[in-house]
Amino acid sequence: MRNNSNDFNQIYATERRKINTILYNAVKNRQPSSLYKPAAYILHSDGKRLRPFLVLLSAKAVGGEFKSAYNAAAAVELLHNFTLVHDDIMDNADKRRGRLTLHKKYDHNTAILVGDSLLSVAYEYLLKDCNGNSKSILNSFTKGLEEICEGQSLDTEFEKRKKVSLEEYVEMIKKKTASMVKMCCEIGTFLGNGKPALVKALSDYGLNIGIAFQIQDDLLDITAKEEKFGKRIGGDLIEGKKTYLFIKAIEKSTGKEKQMLNKVIENKGIRINQVNKYKELYENLGVINDAKRAINSYTNKALKSIDAIKNKGNREILIWLADSLIKRTK
Ligand code: IPE
Ligand code: IPE
Ligand code: MG
Ligand code: MG
Ligand code: MG
Repeated sequence: MRNNSNDFNQIYATERRKINTILYNAVKNRQPSSLYKPAAYILHSDGKRLRPFLVLLSAKAVGGEFKSAYNAAAAVELLHNFTLVHDDIMDNADKRRGRLTLHKKYDHNTAILVGDSLLSVAYEYLLKDCNGNSKSILNSFTKGLEEICEGQSLDTEFEKRKKVSLEEYVEMIKKKTASMVKMCCEIGTFLGNGKPALVKALSDYGLNIGIAFQIQDDLLDITAKEEKFGKRIGGDLIEGKKTYLFIKAIEKSTGKEKQMLNKVIENKGIRINQVNKYKELYENLGVINDAKRAINSYTNKALKSIDAIKNKGNREILIWLADSLIKRTK
């Protein structure tokens, strides 16, 4: 039977359910509840589970099996949730996955500690699957984590900077977002005992869909429907973030429009009631389309690198996933 997008959707739904079960069990029946109840709060929220799915698909793409990689898959999602909890403190965000952010629901100290705790449990789960290739797996995981911190630091630094180039922006998102996506693919290939050429192919795929993913997150931050997106629309402008759209807009604008954008820099953000005005400006300057073009271009780069995967089904589900990510609304 030919694989099609229905089959792939079904595989994704099934694996997502399995991953959710591991995640829920990871913090169930642990004490103190002052730590693990809020940890369960974030883990039980409605995430896409993209990163664990990539671990599984990458293991399979190199000839391995899903079953060798479930704990590692849970580990990368635990790590991801840790970064989200801390990111929401850093970004003053009050909404995540359609609910109050953890530090708003509880408090800052709880959120900091839940983040730390999720990271420790992530290592616990990663180690469960470290049978062969342990050093490569732990190296990749640790390097990914280091890069996320560096990227998050640059992201914060750029909020205060007057000028940030597109090249600097791409370097920043490579670290804060794409490094983890790349790491998920690498870990999968190590668990599947992949040959070096395939490890590299999947690693490049992860890096490039990761870059596309963050540009799209920047795009959705202004174009999405809040009920779907689950996060506050315009959050990046409110915080004065140097996003793909903002940098492009500064580059293309003149006169009054440039003044309007410079105000965001001077005031380190805008008020929530100004978001629609800036959305219109982005539309007029054509930066919404610029972002879409950049997303397509990085996605195409990702797709080129997986030509090396010989098994058609294994390759096609990765193509389907990259395509679904472009179409996503959350
Ligand atoms: C959010 O990641 C953080 C970014 C890197 C943009 P996701 O969009 O994967 O968030 P969830 O896990 O699906 O909620
Ligand atoms: C990515 O950037 C966050 C992480 C690296 C955790 P964002 O700050 O844009 O992510 P969201 O939009 O809050 O999910
Ligand atoms: Mg952030
Ligand atoms: Mg954020
Ligand atoms: Mg964002």
